[in-house]
Amino acid sequence: MIRIELSSAHGDYAVLIGQDLLARLDEILRSEGLDHPRGIVTDATVGPLHGGRVGDALALGVVELPAGEPHKSWTSVSAICRRWLADRFDRGASVLAIGGGVVTDTVGFAAAVFLRGIAWVAAPTTLLGMVDAAIGGKTGVNLPEGKNLVGAFWPPRLVVADTATLATLPDRELRSGLAEVVKAAWIGDRGLLELLPSDRPPTYRSMSPEGWQQLVARSVSVKSGIVAADEREGGRRKALNLGHTLGHALEAATSYRRYLHGEAVAWGIEAEAVLARARGLLTPSGETTLRGALDRLGSRPGIADLDAEAVCRFIAVDKKRDAARVGWVLPTDDGVALDQRVETAEAVAAFRALQSAGDRRA
Ligand SMILES: NC(=O)c1ccc[n+]([C@@H]2O[C@H](COP(=O)([O-])OP(=O)(O)OC[C@H]3O[C@@H](n4cnc5c(N)ncnc54)[C@H](O)[C@@H]3O)[C@@H](O)[C@H]2O)c1
Ligand SMILES: [Zn+2]
Repeated sequence: MIRIELSSAHGDYAVLIGQDLLARLDEILRSEGLDHPRGIVTDATVGPLHGGRVGDALALGVVELPAGEPHKSWTSVSAICRRWLADRFDRGASVLAIGGGVVTDTVGFAAAVFLRGIAWVAAPTTLLGMVDAAIGGKTGVNLPEGKNLVGAFWPPRLVVADTATLATLPDRELRSGLAEVVKAAWIGDRGLLELLPSDRPPTYRSMSPEGWQQLVARSVSVKSGIVAADEREGGRRKALNLGHTLGHALEAATSYRRYLHGEAVAWGIEAEAVLARARGLLTPSGETTLRGALDRLGSRPGIADLDAEAVCRFIAVDKKRDAARVGWVLPTDDGVALDQRVETAEAVAAFRALQSAGDRRA
């Protein structure tokens, strides 16, 4: 088991990464000095695979949300809080969230607002959840108007990343999570690229449990190092947006249906690499290394048929940006350049260049 300590304005907490940790959760919570949780929330896919047996072992009721991004909603938060009230949870109660980023974001937010805040423990079961969503203390839900528009900084007391749960994750979800691993590697730990699975396209099957633990732990270390320095995204935390300015636009332009998040981020990183090359921030060999790492993740839905201008119209729509000055994160040979100003016309041209490069992975 690997242990990484995170510091936060709300208190410090640990991320534990290891194989079969959920089977030992009772013992782990006790040795971490945490109270026995009062309830478990998971989703309808993860419940039967992993959540149910944890509920049995801890003798706890399990609430199953419907699976999927549309259920990262007020409706879910309200249902969860009402259930906790019905179960007579008080301010001292703590809860356990078992699932992907949708579950940890939603339950973390419900925990933040229920009785003005109760303790929670995150057990991420997707690669994206382990390396990203459950790390850093951001929780929240979507509104019909857009993603993550309501939320709170409310870190869990503990993150338990059981790499055994990745064995049931669909390959496409795994590869989507690996795009965030490539992002983390580029920002802060180039050696992490060597740890990517060696089969093409990557699957869970090709790597040992120790390999996954290392991959997750080193990605968590990159994010936690950045978040510790900048919890609220004033400065360095922006580096984590590599690939996301265009990635988010691509997701929104296709109504969140065509790409998994990591797939859109992978395209976003490629487009940002084109921009970085044009500005001399990235050398040809840097671009080859970055592209090579993304190529190793295998195919993703293509971009050839999209209207570049229509995609780029979604760029300034992101809530975190001042439309007049969209701060792009561009890859450099040894990291990222923050706050880059990119005119819409340049973004359109870069996207078109990527499209005409052959839509190689379609
Ligand atoms: N809070 C943050 O800082 C942060 C950071 C990144 C992403 N996020 C959020 O995370 C969400 C995406 O998370 P995600 O990619 O984990 O999506 P998800 O939670 O929707 O999980 C993806 C799918 O995999 C299923 N699943 C989960 N674990 C499984 C397992 N072990 N075996 C089989 N199936 C499994 C889920 O039921 C779901 O259908 C987005 O809402 C995003 O905004 C938050
Ligand atoms: Zn992301």
